[in-house]
Amino acid sequence: MHRKELIKIKDLSSPKGHSILGHLPQFNTHNKHQVLERWVDECGDLFKINFVGKEFIVSAKPSLNNTILRLRPEKFKRFSKIDEILKEMGVSGVFNAEGAHWKRHRKPIAEALNMQHVKGYYPIILDKTNSLLDKFKTYSKENIAIDVQKELMLFTIDITTEIAFGHKLDTINNADNSFQKHLEVIFPMINERITAPIPIWRFIKRKKDEVLQKSINAIEKIIYEFIDESRNKIKNNPELKAQPSNFLEALLLANENDVFNDEEVYGNIFTMLLAGEDTTSNSISWTLFYLSQHPEVVNKIREEANTVYFNDDAPASFEKLSELKYTNAVVQEAIRLKPTTPQLYFEANEDIEIEGLLIPKNGKVILQNKVAQTSEAYFTNANSFEPERWLVSECPMHKKHSPQVIKAFGGGPRYCPGMFLAINEMVTLVSTLCKHFNFKLAVKPEEIVEQFEFTMYPKNLLVEFINIKSKN
Ligand code: HEM
Repeated sequence: MHRKELIKIKDLSSPKGHSILGHLPQFNTHNKHQVLERWVDECGDLFKINFVGKEFIVSAKPSLNNTILRLRPEKFKRFSKIDEILKEMGVSGVFNAEGAHWKRHRKPIAEALNMQHVKGYYPIILDKTNSLLDKFKTYSKENIAIDVQKELMLFTIDITTEIAFGHKLDTINNADNSFQKHLEVIFPMINERITAPIPIWRFIKRKKDEVLQKSINAIEKIIYEFIDESRNKIKNNPELKAQPSNFLEALLLANENDVFNDEEVYGNIFTMLLAGEDTTSNSISWTLFYLSQHPEVVNKIREEANTVYFNDDAPASFEKLSELKYTNAVVQEAIRLKPTTPQLYFEANEDIEIEGLLIPKNGKVILQNKVAQTSEAYFTNANSFEPERWLVSECPMHKKHSPQVIKAFGGGPRYCPGMFLAINEMVTLVSTLCKHFNFKLAVKPEEIVEQFEFTMYPKNLLVEFINIKSKN
């Protein structure tokens, strides 16, 4: 009997690249995810690329990707550079923790973001939804086309900051946002440093490195002050134990046995801000991208909103959200078609064989998850926006529907713990906006392009919001 030959990295095919720089020049763009997709078209669902000689496996194979996600933290970790850069900036949180260290972080974080706690955070989501609604009504009166991606970013900044540690910002209405200005310095620099071929900042301090350090210091000062205040608040208000009003309180309460030191509490607050803002707002932007081209879907969301919360402007209670089944389906469909994190980056902790592929210790694997999510092999009319596919009653047996290949929130033990919060934010805002407005693209659909900067977002998404109460 023949023993099946194992596939090694050297056996994998590769797209065309530069003789010295490899695939770096093609990849170093604002649409690197689309470059990867093109390479999947060219080479199939398993191939290799190299950046100046450093090799990376790229897998768009759902079964392989699923196994890698499941085998964490023991067999795989995130690219080690992510931890290196975040630690250098003083961030030690669940996203960059590994092994036993990660296990220690994960449980209290997941608890602080569970359904019961998210329910307690709902008043914050509702308040910001109403705030944005008022702002968009004004824009609508003045016939101003809205830069959706930018405006929605303010919505999730305000929500995430308040939910993360009780800091009330009002960037929606342009109030003092120095805190956010500092984050805007830090977030792109994380991305820049993770993708930098040479860590220049370790040898020369450039102007932007000094600005970065100042911003890090300012953010640290504010968050540490909140940590102290919250400790006192919890001491004086024992009833908070049953329903903490934000993530920091939930974390401090879950930390009774001092699992975390203050540096780690800080690291996790910072991680929340980093992981919860762009991902959620860009996912809502993509939903509006589809809604502005599907008025029939907007009508259905509106009908549902009118049935579930009648004369209220927005879903007044957390309980209403589970009744918004169609809106939920719309959100799932937008996430399937436009995942804001279309690829994930991992490294093997030891030599390992999966599905006949030999991945050596420290071997790097890029999981390309989006191709499967939009493939006819897994979904009928895979590239069409069809929210009905998510409603069981409308999912006939003969249609393909394989939600298990969707990895927009990752998978396995490290899947996104903020998923429930994010979906609730999305459903609340999408339902509310559709209750009040029709949407009209102010640019041609082909002018709206996918852009990747930390997460994938729609560039140029300009939309007119038409208030249905003021239509003739
Ligand atoms: C639509 C919005 C969101 C998307 C698409 C998203 C996506 C992701 C993805 C792909 C991962 C990596 C998962 C993995 O490695 O398997 C992740 C991890 C994570 N996300 Fe989210 N996320 C979203 C919103 C949020 C929110 C609102 C929060 C919290 C406020 C959050 C907190 C986290 C954390 C803490 C991790 C690290 C988990 C770990 O390493 O154990 N995310 N997210």
